[in-house]
Amino acid sequence: KIIPVLLSGGTGTRLWPLSREAYPKQFLPLVDHETLLQQAALRTLDRAQFGSLIVVANADHRFVIAEQLRTFARPTPRIVLEPFGRNTAPAAAVAALLAEADDPDALILLMPADHVISDAEAFLAAVAAGEPAARNGSLVLFGIQPANAATGYGYIQKGDVLESAPSTYSVRQFVEKPDQPTAERYLESGDFLWNSGIFLLPARRFLDELQIHAPAVLAAARAAVANSSRDMDFLRLDGDAFSASPSISIDYAVFEKSANCAVVPTSMPWTDVGSYSALWDIGEKDAAGNVGHGDVFLQDSRNCYVRSEGPLVATLGVDDLVVVATSDVVLVVPKSRDQDIKQIVEHLKAKG
Ligand code: GDD
Ligand code: MG
Repeated sequence: KIIPVLLSGGTGTRLWPLSREAYPKQFLPLVDHETLLQQAALRTLDRAQFGSLIVVANADHRFVIAEQLRTFARPTPRIVLEPFGRNTAPAAAVAALLAEADDPDALILLMPADHVISDAEAFLAAVAAGEPAARNGSLVLFGIQPANAATGYGYIQKGDVLESAPSTYSVRQFVEKPDQPTAERYLESGDFLWNSGIFLLPARRFLDELQIHAPAVLAAARAAVANSSRDMDFLRLDGDAFSASPSISIDYAVFEKSANCAVVPTSMPWTDVGSYSALWDIGEKDAAGNVGHGDVFLQDSRNCYVRSEGPLVATLGVDDLVVVATSDVVLVVPKSRDQDIKQIVEHLKAKG
């Protein structure tokens, strides 16, 4: 069986003020009634195909996660707590170590807790397509047809189809977050895919690759697991050991370097809901192209994303705006500048 692993460490600053450090976007019902974390858990609920879920998350979020997954993950998921984030490489290493301890041949399905995949069947089909190559020892990535030259994604250059696994291709090159001109070249060339951030990995093989390309990450993760402690239902990683890990993403640490990657191109509807325009893109629109949530009234307004968690928000005669009202913050920003919301958060943080 495949062991599903959810990584839930991001803070989602571009979705401030909805997404807060104490309560980031994966814990919010951004698209449907369920939260992103719950939807991610639901996708791997089929116990015929999947073993029980592992969640790797920040210790501060332990109760939210346990509460949100109470009815969405059975049996009770293993919730592994990091004292602080060290990015995705050590988090993935910890999950691989736990899975491998149970079963030396374990495959782990590493998934971000904050994506929207609106077609669960297409997702499961992609995973099934990747399984033969993963069983054969490849680190399997899932590639998405790029829609534009975004610089916030990893780019995968697809090679030849694998003989042993139809619908799976070798990886010529993996480039994490290229600069704009490079991303544009990749887009034009037509043989690059976006990295979805979802990975199907033979745990042991992945650990071998870490040993080669990022031994300090592996050593720290190993020690953090070896000295971990039980805290109610949670597994607390040892803080001193974990802090020895470099802070590095799995993409830079392993996928850019490994020669054992393979990619399954998929056309599943996938969104990394990192920004308000992404939420607007996938949201249900009124006749004027607005996406509204909560108590909102939009007159003569077009293509706006307006969300209220409290007061009535009314707009008149505005286009392409993001307006978000929570109990303590009102944010107004042109949709085209939603990437810069990060800067507000950084400013406010610096001000204390
Ligand atoms: N447990 C844990 N600890 N999880 C973490 C940590 C951490 O320190 N840091 C990030 N995560 C989680 C995030 O919550 C998210 O679910 C996932 O790991 C990926 O991290 P991001 O920080 O969102 O990565 P990214 O979006 O910049 O880039 C990755 O995803 C892109 C697709 O969305 C890369 O894999 C790119 O190559 C990829 O294109
Ligand atoms: Mg992301």
